[in-house]
Amino acid sequence: MKIILIGFMGSGKTTIAKSLGKKLSLDVIEMDDLIVKRSGKSINQIFKEDGEVHFRELEIKAAKSLAKKDKCIISTGGGVVMNKIIIDYLKINGKIIFLKTSFLEIEKRLKNINDRPLFEDKKTAKKLFVFRQRLYEEYADLIVATDGKSVDKIVYEIISQN
Ligand code: S3P
Repeated sequence: MKIILIGFMGSGKTTIAKSLGKKLSLDVIEMDDLIVKRSGKSINQIFKEDGEVHFRELEIKAAKSLAKKDKCIISTGGGVVMNKIIIDYLKINGKIIFLKTSFLEIEKRLKNINDRPLFEDKKTAKKLFVFRQRLYEEYADLIVATDGKSVDKIVYEIISQN
């Protein structure tokens, strides 16, 4: 069994994954890190030099290679819901948890961060956010609202419902 965290950019997947990993003594795998390691390029570089379609292909490959993994926490990129095949790979022996955060909160968190190519234009990001909500909800086995909650509270909610 493994835990997969999904949600929009800035929903706290990385932070929650690290904390969950510590509490449950499980390895934490960051899909974006895997892609960066394998390609030797930053996410920004991949988007700029090779385009989003190529990035999504790398995401599919990363998800496939993680399908056999067990007993770990996987923190995904916010766009994994754009390709159902990624979700299918991740679902193998995995419980999908959607960290549901409002756009207002996400805007605050990503204010001074510029390593999110798809958050550069707020209007486009908002549209993407609205479009993806239905997908996150559809694929989730558990939905955890995060606005106004501490990391510990979110982790507690996940563990107690697992
Ligand atoms: C993306 C989210 C990013 C990263 C890439 C694309 C997206 O990950 O995978 O920039 O499409 O939402 P985070 O959700 O960790 O920011």
